[in-house]
Amino acid sequence: MISEKSGPLTGVAQVPGDKSISHRALILGAMAVGETRISGLLEGQDVLDTARAMQSFGAEVIDHGTGDWSVHGVGVGGFSEPDQVIDCGNSGTGVRLIMGAMATSPIVATFTGDASLNRRPMARVTDPLMAFGARAFGRSGGRLPLTLQGATFPVPVRYATPVASAQVKSAVLLAGLNAPGETVVIEDVPTRDHTERMLARFGADITTEDTPDGRVITLRGQPELTPQAIDVPRDPSSAAFPVCAALITEGSDVLVPGIGLNPTRAGLFTTLREMGADLSYENPRDEGGEPVADLLARFSPDLRGIEVPPERAASMIDEYPVLSVVAAFAEGPTHMPGVGELRVKESDRIAAMTAGLRAAGLSVDEGEDWWTVHGRGHGNVQGGVTAQSQLDHRIAMAFLVMGQATIQPMRIDDGGPVATSFPMFQNLMEALGASIQQEAA
Ligand code: S3P
Repeated sequence: MISEKSGPLTGVAQVPGDKSISHRALILGAMAVGETRISGLLEGQDVLDTARAMQSFGAEVIDHGTGDWSVHGVGVGGFSEPDQVIDCGNSGTGVRLIMGAMATSPIVATFTGDASLNRRPMARVTDPLMAFGARAFGRSGGRLPLTLQGATFPVPVRYATPVASAQVKSAVLLAGLNAPGETVVIEDVPTRDHTERMLARFGADITTEDTPDGRVITLRGQPELTPQAIDVPRDPSSAAFPVCAALITEGSDVLVPGIGLNPTRAGLFTTLREMGADLSYENPRDEGGEPVADLLARFSPDLRGIEVPPERAASMIDEYPVLSVVAAFAEGPTHMPGVGELRVKESDRIAAMTAGLRAAGLSVDEGEDWWTVHGRGHGNVQGGVTAQSQLDHRIAMAFLVMGQATIQPMRIDDGGPVATSFPMFQNLMEALGASIQQEAA
């Protein structure tokens, strides 16, 4: 795909539903007894793979069109054994949460994914699941394809997560649903808390306490979950792309309505404002248990590089690729420490962005868990290269955003991954006035 300088970006960007919340709505819907209704579900490939997986475990999942779905759940402990391999495609969230959800039922399932997912670490999830009594047989390094044998007599677990990961936390909590007694997760750094919020809504007995040892989440096992009507807020991680494009494109003025601003997700917007972005929150409100607002982003010619606090990393972990693009158009260095987790996402995101940014004329320094982009200021970024999207939707979209403000167009080798989280990305950006096109092979 090719992305090149156009006029100002203007208008309203209706970004799709939140990916994290969409996965959780399907999985918890499948674990409740009766019909859960979901509106605004993200119909990206990652979430569709989770919907299909829930059907394989015995839930009935129905697509009513335009983001309205229903799930007829089988209850906690009610999963049946799938008769096929569960293919989670590109989705780490999908596979890790589903492994948790089945790990305390006496069934066996085999999981696989695409080349990106099959490279990613799974021991971080199977280790705590084995403490419940499950058994895992994966490839070296605990990677997929992997077979999980759920525990017949699960025991509850107390687990301090060694990495800041909402996927690990969520896998343990979902496994804890079918274990008797209390399952406890302790995290040093708070990560996105959609699972906790949604479990409480479905009627689980769950508490969160901030202590000197970290955030302690306690779940009482074997509840009966009550089906819910869930309105999925729009995804802040998807909103990041039109917002950042507007900030770096001359004359832009874009409204992105209904964006989830859960504090465990909103770190990018705080960071952009610290860099001098003209970005405001309009009409803040609560939707379905999550804080929501409309974002108004305008061209910001005087962006400054900053030091991004490492303790903010978890609340913006998926946004570093597009932040590094904004940093390229800021004056001076943007230093991003404490982000080692970026190396085990859909791609090694530090390596993928560093390669493309350097090719486009930027100076970038990187270490194992940090990187620094030396911004050249508005109007001074060359571009004119083809970046590799590395089976990673956020890398692909970050470079397409970049092409809106580089001197020469930016190309990516593969636009396919965009569909995992933001199938309408190209249309939405074009409607704002961007020039992003598919080139003939
Ligand atoms: C997610 C958690 C994060 C994030 C991912 C979605 C979730 O991953 O990067 O895109 O929905 O729980 P980690 O838990 O690995 O940090």
